[in-house]
Amino acid sequence: MPFVFKKQRKNQKVCSKAEARAIREALGDRSIVLVGLMGAGKTAIGRRLAQQLSIPFTDADDEIEQAAGKSISDIFAEDGEDVFRNGEKRVIARLLDDGSSIMATGGGAYMDEDTRQKIGETGVSVWLKANLDILFERVSRRDNRPLLQTENPKAVLKSLMDERYPIYQQADIVVQSRNVPHEKIMHEIISALKKYLNI
Ligand code: S3P
Repeated sequence: MPFVFKKQRKNQKVCSKAEARAIREALGDRSIVLVGLMGAGKTAIGRRLAQQLSIPFTDADDEIEQAAGKSISDIFAEDGEDVFRNGEKRVIARLLDDGSSIMATGGGAYMDEDTRQKIGETGVSVWLKANLDILFERVSRRDNRPLLQTENPKAVLKSLMDERYPIYQQADIVVQSRNVPHEKIMHEIISALKKYLNI
């Protein structure tokens, strides 16, 4: 079989160096914190946005796994959700105190009142809002989410939407996540950020 080279899609530029610098300066020590349900694209978008803005990227779930020395699935199974939530709160507070980053948070993080307050003090929150079908299609690709290991994961997602969307609504910026190129979503986030930061 001949070699097939997968065409590499380079991360296209969505803002100029001067715009990125202006955003970094306006943020100072504040972080950009991505919130939203599982499957909203917080990690995928956050990673790319960090690259565009030359700000370090942090993934709160990865940091929790590192701190615990085990996967989120194992934390849920062996220690329970409460232990996970406590760890999540501590890790996010520490990361926010460490200085400016683009942070992807787990879907439940922003539901915690202390975390929400901390994000309000040290960050700009961006809710990646998505509809149920898109979220379900995306989360169905992997089985790494303990909350969705149930008979009817779509119904669970729906009830999480009902419970969480009124709270996510408090985020500083809301951008509709949908199946369009990542660059389009990033462009919308950057435009909203510039407006929010008065640039
Ligand atoms: C959770 C979302 C997950 C992870 C954990 C719990 C939630 O993160 O933190 O499984 O409560 O919504 P993602 O939103 O990155 O999937």
